[in-house]
Amino acid sequence: MNKERKLIVAGNWKMNKTVAEAMDLVRSLKIELANVKEVDMVVCPPFTALSEVSKAILDSNLRLGAQNMSEHNVGAYTGEIAAVMLKEFSVRYVILGHSERRQFYSETDAGIAKKALAAHVAALKPIVCVGESLAEREGGRMEQVLETQVRGSLAGLKKEQMEETIVAYEPVWAIGTGKTASAQQAEEAHAFIRGLLVKMFDETVARRVRIQYGGSVKPSNARELMSLPNVDGALVGGASLEGRSFADIIKNSI
Ligand code: PGA
Repeated sequence: MNKERKLIVAGNWKMNKTVAEAMDLVRSLKIELANVKEVDMVVCPPFTALSEVSKAILDSNLRLGAQNMSEHNVGAYTGEIAAVMLKEFSVRYVILGHSERRQFYSETDAGIAKKALAAHVAALKPIVCVGESLAEREGGRMEQVLETQVRGSLAGLKKEQMEETIVAYEPVWAIGTGKTASAQQAEEAHAFIRGLLVKMFDETVARRVRIQYGGSVKPSNARELMSLPNVDGALVGGASLEGRSFADIIKNSI
């Protein structure tokens, strides 16, 4: 597939996989994906598996991501993990503001923006998630919601930082539900987000930023979604938990 931007496909394992299970998955991914060069491939295990997964993928084309991090560098923040701690395991990416964190842990756009800045200071690339709920879409508020989230979660980033940021458009109604946005719905939302980036930054920045689609991506719909002009990769939940399906998503995207 000839794309303007290099595709980036990330597996968000969420709260799944013990270390032993993570090792099994990585072993199969390394075999399945050994020859892939066309796509940036990222696995995002739970914190507890980062150390072992990091060692296991050292000699591979897989890169490591975390699922969250603190906006603070150090100190009395019980239960939190700082960017420098992720860096110890050669983590390169960090998912920020996933809808599950917004919904279950009350994360706000302003808090996500602070985390995104802290990630850049530590030279981690944030994957900043945005997306509307079903009620918001059906109420005709999709664009308004996306604009608030995009402006709020990316506030304060410099142009160079924005270029190294990945945006993940994940309509909440498509996450873990088996319902995928249609090609037209995905392309419309991605184009809208890119348009916002033009207004917030400039044309060049907006052209360089990769926007992933997330929400029930599977081997059978990956090709169509990844062929859309403004879709530059995928953030995959459920289908990233099994080696064959994650590998097939990537192979079908090339
Ligand atoms: P899903 O999750 O692929 O299981 O829908 C996507 C996500 O939450 O990133």
